[in-house]
Amino acid sequence: MKALTILGIETSCDETAAAVVRVDDGGPRVLSDIVLGQAARHAPYKGIVPEIAARAHVESLDAVIAVAMRDAGLKYAELDGVAATAGPGLIGGVMVGLQAGKAIALAHGKPLIGVNHLEGHALSPRLADGGASFPYLLLLVSGGHCQFIAVMDVGVYRRLGSTVDDALGEAFDKLAKLLDLGFPGGPLVEQAARNGDSKRFALPKPMLGREDCDFSFAGLKTACAREAARLGALTAQDKADLCASFQATVVAIVADRTRNAMRAFDPIYGAKGRLVAAGGVAANQAIRACLEGLAGGRGYYFIAPPLKWCTDNAAMIALAGAERLRLGFSDDLSFPARPRWPLDEKSARLRPSHRPGRKGAKA
Ligand code: KG4
Ligand code: ZN
Repeated sequence: MKALTILGIETSCDETAAAVVRVDDGGPRVLSDIVLGQAARHAPYKGIVPEIAARAHVESLDAVIAVAMRDAGLKYAELDGVAATAGPGLIGGVMVGLQAGKAIALAHGKPLIGVNHLEGHALSPRLADGGASFPYLLLLVSGGHCQFIAVMDVGVYRRLGSTVDDALGEAFDKLAKLLDLGFPGGPLVEQAARNGDSKRFALPKPMLGREDCDFSFAGLKTACAREAARLGALTAQDKADLCASFQATVVAIVADRTRNAMRAFDPIYGAKGRLVAAGGVAANQAIRACLEGLAGGRGYYFIAPPLKWCTDNAAMIALAGAERLRLGFSDDLSFPARPRWPLDEKSARLRPSHRPGRKGAKA
């Protein structure tokens, strides 16, 4: 196989990222990987402000790309293509990154690949040593997404289940906002939960016991708000107990849904399967431990990409671009930025109000 060297650009949320990945017979090699976070700019608002995110991408993307190229030790002429996230995501940010990708592709006569951000996450485990061979069952849990995907091959994805309301990371972020813990909320809730009593609050577990593997977190969020309102002024211990109870409830929900997802995946694969966790929430140790235990109990291998590739990054976009280019796909310069772009376009909507592939409803 001819080696393909691809510049990847990621700007769909609050990370400005660029990376260079080379794919050859030995698998993918990450030559550079730059991620510039914007958390400090959004923290005063306790959530992501799309306009601030887009402006921050405009300010820093050129420099981030220049550093990624310098770290890789390459000139643009040495690239085989430019891959940019074209959605789903906050549309202002997506447009900034996609335009930059188009400009570089045009100026240097390189193919452009418009990448679905979800495809980046779906393929991200393959960046790690040894990679993950197809097919595998992916649990993608981030601030904007919460779904099970059967990853069959590059470009062949089947959504098995999805959230009908909030994404899991969004639920963590909203609890952190309610308790005034800071932003982004996930790591802060996890930290607070360490000192809390997970049995103090009995919280609802929506969807539990259903045969499918969909999620719903809106009721859980409302129940937390109700408990907080009932207590009035919250002590640090109240907050820790609420975080611990919330996290334990989430773990129970994820466990129940994952059991069903593995049951749905078994006939697809027909032998020892692989379970992969990706997305920012996959950084949560309690959730990781639960998934690892479940996988082991069912004879599945559990694969969690290194944390830097769980959260948003451009290496996964470059890899997805390389894989697509290898299959002969590239896009012309009119390729649009898409706020919504489900990975599995054929999957029916779960409810009329459900918008698959929607991202960026965090704030
Ligand atoms: O994948 P990601 O970086 O961006 C999106 O595509 O959304 O995920 C960010 C999300 C945020 O909602 C953040 O609160 C959550 O992942 N997160 C966590 C943890 N670390 C990050 N949630 C729970 N526990 C964590 N340790
Ligand atoms: Zn993401």
